[in-house]
Amino acid sequence: MSLNLDEVIPLGRCLDEYIGMFSLTSSDLKLAILDCAGGTANFNAEMTRQGQKVISCDPVYQLTAEQIRAHLPEYHDFINGFEASRPNYLWNIFESPSQLAEVRWNATQKFLKDFPSGLQEGRYVTASLPVLPFENGQFDLALCSHFLFPDTHLSENFPLAAITEMCRVAKQVRVFPLLQSFSGVESEHLNPVIAELKNRSFTVEIQEVAYQFQIGGNKMLRVRGRM
Ligand SMILES: C[S@@+](CC[C@H](N)C(=O)[O-])C[C@H]1O[C@@H](n2cnc3c(N)ncnc32)[C@H](O)[C@@H]1O
Repeated sequence: MSLNLDEVIPLGRCLDEYIGMFSLTSSDLKLAILDCAGGTANFNAEMTRQGQKVISCDPVYQLTAEQIRAHLPEYHDFINGFEASRPNYLWNIFESPSQLAEVRWNATQKFLKDFPSGLQEGRYVTASLPVLPFENGQFDLALCSHFLFPDTHLSENFPLAAITEMCRVAKQVRVFPLLQSFSGVESEHLNPVIAELKNRSFTVEIQEVAYQFQIGGNKMLRVRGRM
């Protein structure tokens, strides 16, 4: 499984961001959940601490915690990056780039602390979409945050293949956001992907969520399989 480590590994999002991005209810949180492209988010660590069932998968999990730590952005570079792009974001969930850095840094530290034991327990699994090493219907819900539509390096066919694969392993899939990169513009792949999923008899809806940090980024895709 190849991994390009010339790129910085982003700081992870926190549990509250996941709850907002995916409109997770208290019933949802009790489900068997797969966090696809989980990266350095603290979702798995925090959910496990609360007694819930989450498995996260990502190609970076082939690295050790120390290797991941070595590829994180510098704290001040992270703040400066958001200072430079301040107008692209709504500053109500986070009041400033420095408060955002504090939240994401703490989330990432929680992930790094949890990672070695989580690996041993099988809660962190090295895997790369669009192929997942899980059984059909193993999960109730698969989540995918900030990977499929924002990543403009992915081929046109990638989001469809990835969502179809997530639907194989989970009864329901939620993807957030639907924007292309940092542009604030909806991904050009979105409508063709929705049309093809419907064509293949999946139930698809776009749902507005309460979480909006990137301006225009307040929609998630919800897909239910054909079971
Ligand atoms: C922007 S991060 C998002 C991390 C986390 N979901 C969050 O919201 O904080 C994108 C993640 O996608 C992962 N990724 C890259 N290629 C992938 C692939 N083919 N399959 C699954 N994850 C991948 C990266 O390693 C990275 O951790």
